[in-house]
Amino acid sequence: SSIGYEAWLRYPQLAEDKQEAFSRWCGCIVEAETEESEVMAAAASELSRGLGRMLGITTSARSSRDSSGKGCIAIGTFNGGNESIAHVYGDSGVYPNTGAEGFAIRTDAKSGIIAIGAEQPAGVLYGVFHLLRLIATGTAIDELDIVEQPTNAIRMINQWDNIDGSIERGYAGQSIFYDNNEITKDLGRIEDYARLLASTGLNAITINNVNVHRLETYFITDRFLPDIARIAGIFRRYAIKLFLSVNFASPIETGDLKTADPLDADVKAWWKAKADEVYQAIPDFGGFLVKADSENRPGPFTYGRDHADGSNMLAEALLPHGGLVIWRCFVYNCKQDWRDRKTDRARAAYDHFKPLDGRFMDNVILQIKNGPMDFQVREPVSPLFGALPSTNCMIEFQIAQEYTGQARHLCYLVPQWKEVLDFDTYAQGEGSHVKQVVDGSLFGYKHSGFAAVSNIGDDANWTGHPLAQSNLYGYGRLAWNPQLASDAIAEEWTRLTFGSEERVVHTVVGMLMDSWGIYESYTAPLGVGWMVSPNHHYGPDVDGYEYSKWGTYHFSDYKGMGVDRTLATGTGYAGQYREPNASVYGTLESCPDELLLFFHHVPYTHVLHSGKTVIQHIYDTHFEGVERADGLLKRWNELEGQVDAETFKRAADRFAQQAEHAREWRDRINTYYLRKSGIGDALGRTIY
Ligand code: GCU
Repeated sequence: SSIGYEAWLRYPQLAEDKQEAFSRWCGCIVEAETEESEVMAAAASELSRGLGRMLGITTSARSSRDSSGKGCIAIGTFNGGNESIAHVYGDSGVYPNTGAEGFAIRTDAKSGIIAIGAEQPAGVLYGVFHLLRLIATGTAIDELDIVEQPTNAIRMINQWDNIDGSIERGYAGQSIFYDNNEITKDLGRIEDYARLLASTGLNAITINNVNVHRLETYFITDRFLPDIARIAGIFRRYAIKLFLSVNFASPIETGDLKTADPLDADVKAWWKAKADEVYQAIPDFGGFLVKADSENRPGPFTYGRDHADGSNMLAEALLPHGGLVIWRCFVYNCKQDWRDRKTDRARAAYDHFKPLDGRFMDNVILQIKNGPMDFQVREPVSPLFGALPSTNCMIEFQIAQEYTGQARHLCYLVPQWKEVLDFDTYAQGEGSHVKQVVDGSLFGYKHSGFAAVSNIGDDANWTGHPLAQSNLYGYGRLAWNPQLASDAIAEEWTRLTFGSEERVVHTVVGMLMDSWGIYESYTAPLGVGWMVSPNHHYGPDVDGYEYSKWGTYHFSDYKGMGVDRTLATGTGYAGQYREPNASVYGTLESCPDELLLFFHHVPYTHVLHSGKTVIQHIYDTHFEGVERADGLLKRWNELEGQVDAETFKRAADRFAQQAEHAREWRDRINTYYLRKSGIGDALGRTIY
């Protein structure tokens, strides 16, 4: 199979000197016979596969050391009866604190053992992937003493896959889960996906779209449960819990009841019976993901109930089984009148959910998009983070690049996600970062973590653009440890994927790190967002969403542009933040340039902190953006012959498309603002 399909689990063969240095530790894999878990079996097979590829050796798991005199890698749970593990940790019975999902790796030079130990098999699996990563990136393993635990308990991926095989906002082919209104028979590909996810540390998946259509409503019935249980079985081997998106109106849609009112006794009983049935089929089922009262999906509002009523009803049904309700906060008025300047979509999630804080059951988690709008290239952080001290919360990112180039443009999103996670909410004074809200530590949440919309499909290389794999990889790594640096993750991914030829690593990491800024520079300026073609969201259309019902406006006229979201004269959105953020954003002088038009309506001649006027900034960034997009193509072309021909060609085609398309963006935006403002480019460049 090709470089693309195996992604970062390809484990290219190492240079000979490296092979030798690592091989002396890898004589055999020792695993206690008493450890019969399937996750352990997966760990052992990943280890022998990875070592085999990189070091050109055959090592299979055995129950005791061989007599080769070479070192060995021992894997096992601390109390699983692996004597080599016990030996390395001093035979004392006092083991490192790895928590439920963490691992410890220790090199014991004397006995020649590298021990990968954990409390649970899942930790061993993560430890194995960690060791393989170290070897693949050329890190010495002679003196390891590592203890790692994931920062976030829930590390989830959301598939927006439909049973007809399509994927909502999918840009890499069709679904790997469904085909032609059936669940796929090709379980091998799902298993390979599970391996990819587990290798980055992810531990949960929702396998169907949050928009639950007619047939998918039946996923929680005996019509589909046997097939779904089989998929759950695959993910279970890799310590990944399966969740389903459910339709709030299921009791009606299935024809069983006339209402879905969450306070109705029959509705409650219906969901309880349903939960029993699902757990009968899948005993370790994760729970339900729910999009309710959002973009025309049914929900509790129909019955005059609120989101706490709705989610608690489902939570009660799942509670006896230990299941979770993940309830999305993407709730806003999608039938706005553009002339109405009081209603502000950005305000909606906070306005809906803040008043409900404290009313949700312990097994409900609110899933909040990273920003208040919808995965734009630049928007502020959702003010809901930090505003819900008494409600479990998790963050939702989108790997799929719906608004950031759709796997045709390169846009490495890890730096954007890091900015969000590092944002200080001031909820408990200075240093109350979003990452501490969503890891649960700031408010002591019972459940919390990360979710993200996947970017994979059945394309041979999973993600369409070969380099878009880095976003999936990076998401998993960040969910495990939000402290990791963007460039470190980029470098890891590049080495794992392409090997360690320094010129390749240097070029690819540089391109990834520049890509978000490049995409931002030729698209909607200064945080105002949108300006994309309606419906499919690809390509420029400045007024595409301007006079629509979706609440997505930039208010450009002949004098200026931007949305006044101040407390004093605007929608008041800025006031949803705590101080000092509220004042920083709400005050023209202190608002950061990159978000200026999100918070303020200004004349085109307004001077930014950069010293440029808004109009000149628009022209300059759009001209530069095209040059930098050309630069990406040029940089990639320099790698011809250094990466495999197929991957080279596929990416080269996309970079050419990106450069071309950046021109369209530049010209559409520059022309629009030249005509609107009547102000020419100070440098006299061609604007049509
Ligand atoms: C966006 C996206 C939709 C999606 C929605 C959601 O609006 O365009 O396709 O359904 O987000 O997150 O629910």
